[in-house]
Amino acid sequence: MRRARACGRIAIPPAPGNPHVTDRLAALYPQHLATVVARAERALARGGFDHLLVAAGTELYAFLDDNHYPFRTNPHFKAWVPLVAHPHSWIAFTPGRRPVLCYHQPADYWHLPPAPPAGYWVEHFDLRVIGAPAEARAHLPSDLSRAAIIGEPGAALDGVVPSNPPKVLASLHLARTRKTPYEVECLRMASLHAARAHRAAAAAFRERRSEHEIHRAYCEAAGQGEIELPYGNIVALNEHGATLHYQHQDRTAPAEHRSLLIDAGAQVHGYAADITRTYGDGGAEFTELLHAVNAVQMALVAKVRAGQDYPALHVEAHHALAGVLSAHGIVRMAPESIVESGLSRAFFPHGLGHYLGLQVHDVAGFQRDEDGGTIERPPGHPYLRLTRVLEEGNVLTIEPGLYFIDLLLAPLREGAHARAVDWAKVGRLAPYGGIRIEDDVVVGAGEPENLTRDAFRALAA
Ligand code: GLY
Ligand code: MN
Repeated sequence: MRRARACGRIAIPPAPGNPHVTDRLAALYPQHLATVVARAERALARGGFDHLLVAAGTELYAFLDDNHYPFRTNPHFKAWVPLVAHPHSWIAFTPGRRPVLCYHQPADYWHLPPAPPAGYWVEHFDLRVIGAPAEARAHLPSDLSRAAIIGEPGAALDGVVPSNPPKVLASLHLARTRKTPYEVECLRMASLHAARAHRAAAAAFRERRSEHEIHRAYCEAAGQGEIELPYGNIVALNEHGATLHYQHQDRTAPAEHRSLLIDAGAQVHGYAADITRTYGDGGAEFTELLHAVNAVQMALVAKVRAGQDYPALHVEAHHALAGVLSAHGIVRMAPESIVESGLSRAFFPHGLGHYLGLQVHDVAGFQRDEDGGTIERPPGHPYLRLTRVLEEGNVLTIEPGLYFIDLLLAPLREGAHARAVDWAKVGRLAPYGGIRIEDDVVVGAGEPENLTRDAFRALAA
């Protein structure tokens, strides 16, 4: 294994193709597992259960087909072990005992079975290798009347039916919002892979490649194929940047490369990076807007810390972006009026960000407390994905944007404030689609850790 290169506070992970293992991860894992165990004990006690069973999951087949969808493991399974491609495996945990890992390794010549268990995590489990899914049953507790069984319905075995008790899930979900040092290290590494790939995508944009070619350059530099990426890459040239989750990739390059909005991540041990960058052709109006949104984004990141109310930060983002619309003469109104009139929502029609971790939009973004419950979004902000007050150890995204979306601008043309909008300017900027800048941030008591900017800096060094 190539050694990781130390660089400032982060280490550059091995180049693509190598396993994502560092001595640091191995050193951090025992404490992570101890935390996972403590969380499981607490969740079981709160739910009134004696055992926790977690199914990795199964492959889901397409209708009338023998092809399955890409396997996505149960996030509660990969919280225990860095295994993301192990369908039919199970964790069985009983407080006070070593956790059991039923490791599914079939004899198969159609597909390559998982390699024998190996790695820094193995010694912490009571390992039971099984050759067929049903064999797991013999290694699970015999009396399951007081077992919390976490998994998708299709993972059921004879007499072992996922129950997903809400009390247990609520406790585990809230706990997952506070990352362990091991998890933060995985997220740091995911950001490094993604940042490396974003640099390759930016180069492909400058070489005037098609969306599909930019996507391929991204995957190659990330060292990850589409199945491994945490979500489908959004690779949007020109006007396509105005579709928030643009899902296609044109095979032919456009006549002009005015802008690239690329929202793409990477995964390390099941932990996701989620990064968006926007690039332009150097035209003055769009470049100025890019710099302004970037400055807004960095100012918002600087406010991320324990105790910060996230919806309040989202509303602050509206005010800051309204300031940009006003200062750049796109909307000739005071920033407060741009927000109060609802105009800012036409240009920034999504939430400021979301929790990040084992899932790209990680769980518990709206959860009131350990019992569950919901903290509602502020009225008028239906797409905000995080309504909690931030706590140390949270990891989240900060992703403000400004877009020129026909569907949302059309009503403004007829509305009360139509004359406040410089439609000629909007017409010049619309061919650039939009701007989104997204970083992944770790919440601390003071200054946040910006995983994304640290990664880009380390790679540029
Ligand atoms: N990466 C896409 C999103 O956060 O919605
Ligand atoms: Mn995101």
